[in-house]
Amino acid sequence: MNEPIVGSKSFAAVAINCASKAGEWIQSKLGAYQMLKEKQSPHDLVTEVDKGAEKLIRSLVMMNFPEHSFLGEEGVEPGPAASARALEDVQEAEYLWIVDPVDGTTNFVHGFPFFTVSIALARRGEVILGVVYDPSADELFIAEKGKGAYVHGKRMSVSGEETLRTSLLATGFPAEHRQALPRNLAQLQRIAPQVRNIRSGGSAALHLAYVAAGRLSGFWEVGLSSWDIAAGALLVQEAGGRIGDQDGTPYHLGVRDVLATNGRIHEELQAELALLASE
Ligand code: IPD
Ligand code: CA
Ligand code: CA
Ligand code: CA
Repeated sequence: MNEPIVGSKSFAAVAINCASKAGEWIQSKLGAYQMLKEKQSPHDLVTEVDKGAEKLIRSLVMMNFPEHSFLGEEGVEPGPAASARALEDVQEAEYLWIVDPVDGTTNFVHGFPFFTVSIALARRGEVILGVVYDPSADELFIAEKGKGAYVHGKRMSVSGEETLRTSLLATGFPAEHRQALPRNLAQLQRIAPQVRNIRSGGSAALHLAYVAAGRLSGFWEVGLSSWDIAAGALLVQEAGGRIGDQDGTPYHLGVRDVLATNGRIHEELQAELALLASE
């Protein structure tokens, strides 16, 4: 991809600026947020910080690229149907920013330092830039299509494990799409005995960044939304990994039931999930 320059700023420079400004602000609010609301249930939370961070990112993006489209979690009604509709409305846009201002709100609320700002830019439905910023660790993960994936300027590549037996995996327990939980638990029961171990940190975007960084061999979750996955998907791909729907469809913006791996264990893990789906 040629370096996309509009005005004096590249897409990547704007995304990094948004992620670090929002991340710094979110971090400063840790333990000090005032308004906490349950969206649909006690599992699905929103704070003034989610909304404020999205507003900040949106205004920085729009200031630089006023003709671009913007899809952010907090601008969409809660629930899977609304998030699918919101994506449908904009997914063909020439340039679409897909933003999760705080991925891991539950962690943020409890002071558990595992949450991120996730920012992706898609061009006619294809992700061309992904930034995931973890303000607690001050780690910025970035990938541009065709240019590799980096953390703190250091090139990332996925892990080398060849089998599930030696793999460290992560999963997440759906917060918004709670009806997907029984499926996730059945998957956990099937996969856990076959792998080295399983983690669940509570930020899909950060789990995907960890797959790209080779810290996890794979990650799966059901019932996610486009903003949870888009930036991390490019990180995984550009680090040499594989990501798609659990049914084997390669990654696209509409994927909700995600499977991301180092590539080497992908088929083995996908086959296990498929066996479960057919039972
Ligand atoms: C959540 C996180 C979490 C995942 C949930 C997501 P949010 O996003 O990614 O890890 O398990 O399914 O909804 O609501 O904190 O942005
Ligand atoms: Ca949320
Ligand atoms: Ca999220
Ligand atoms: Ca969020």
